[in-house]
Amino acid sequence: MTTDHARHRTAGREADDLPEGFAGIAAFDHSQRFATVSEIYEAAPDRLDAGDWDFLDGGSGEEITLADNRRAFARWQFRPRLLTGMSTPTTRTSFHGLPLASPVVTAPFGADRLFDADGHLAVARANARFGNWSIVPESSSFALEEVAKAAPDAARVFQLHPAGTDREVLTMIRRAEDAGYAALCLTCDCPVGGWRERNMRNRYQLDRSAISGNGIDYLKQVEPQPQWSWARVADVFSHSSIPFLAKGVLTAEQARYAIDAGARALLVSNHGGRQMDGAPASLDQLPEIVAEVAGQVEIAIDSGIRRGSDIVKALALGADIVVIGRAAAMALAAAGEDGVFRLHELLQAEIINVLTLLGCDMSRLDASVLQRARHTS
Ligand SMILES: Cc1cc2nc3c(=O)[nH]c(=O)nc-3n(C[C@H](O)[C@H](O)[C@H](O)COP(=O)(O)O)c2cc1C
Repeated sequence: MTTDHARHRTAGREADDLPEGFAGIAAFDHSQRFATVSEIYEAAPDRLDAGDWDFLDGGSGEEITLADNRRAFARWQFRPRLLTGMSTPTTRTSFHGLPLASPVVTAPFGADRLFDADGHLAVARANARFGNWSIVPESSSFALEEVAKAAPDAARVFQLHPAGTDREVLTMIRRAEDAGYAALCLTCDCPVGGWRERNMRNRYQLDRSAISGNGIDYLKQVEPQPQWSWARVADVFSHSSIPFLAKGVLTAEQARYAIDAGARALLVSNHGGRQMDGAPASLDQLPEIVAEVAGQVEIAIDSGIRRGSDIVKALALGADIVVIGRAAAMALAAAGEDGVFRLHELLQAEIINVLTLLGCDMSRLDASVLQRARHTS
């Protein structure tokens, strides 16, 4: 292992600490268990029961949206800028004032204990080691207070649903405030669970205890019931001392409603194709939302993000950060805390590689570095 490589692997996840002229592939130690993100993703199914794997990997309906989330990235190509004289790009950024070593936050994914015994405790530790933070789900196997204790010095965001009574939602908000969460993530696209046919075919029974770390019956929450309204969200969340970001926004008009209801940031998402099959790819919707709200609130995006080049495309189209769901869950399944940490390392290294080839620093990315693909399969 070279000295440079040792620095890269251990240096507090500051991109500025990367070796001068960092060359991506040359700086990697290929004796590492996972040399590429694909190796991480390929290792995951072997570690899980078939039913749990389908729960992690599957989408809803015919999985049209699930597949389109990936295809949407292939519909964009890069326009490399040559000989720009740019120095090694940094990946350091922040979202909502919360610092990040790279523009990658882990998504709220429930039932985490099915993927690794330490679930979101391990995710939080890996994120903190790397210099990033988590969105911790209400349906985690662990209580939000336990996850907070696992990485006490790291920032954290707590995800919850607009479901149940006002009092139940306010109780969760108070718990998150007391446990030092900096913000809330309100999942708005889940008034009922998605039509998950893989789970149905498997006769899959989700272990309720794996989603009850916070002492609430999440499955009951997503049974059909009168839906909340934006007006009720505005009212209930006006009693929160911490801001909320709205997750699941896919159109300009819903972005406007979310902001009018008090959302201070947006997460453009189709829930990774797990909720409404036939919904558009998140990436395809990003430009119209950016056009509607740019400069007013920060924008995150999830759904289909698997590699560094996807992240650069999302940032170029106007996202401030990306959120990774299955990628993080697969890394957790593949190798627990170390798997998630390694995923961060590989994504960061690929982002730096792509930015360098593109001749554009992260802070200057915009749609001018992209063009529509001439041919897509
Ligand atoms: C196993 C699993 C469980 C999830 N559970 C939740 C949840 O409880 N709440 C939520 O808002 N989103 C949940 N999601 C959706 C993610 O937060 C995120 O929107 C999605 O995974 C992004 O797409 P990607 O998996 O392609 O990255 C879950 C996703 C997965 C894979």
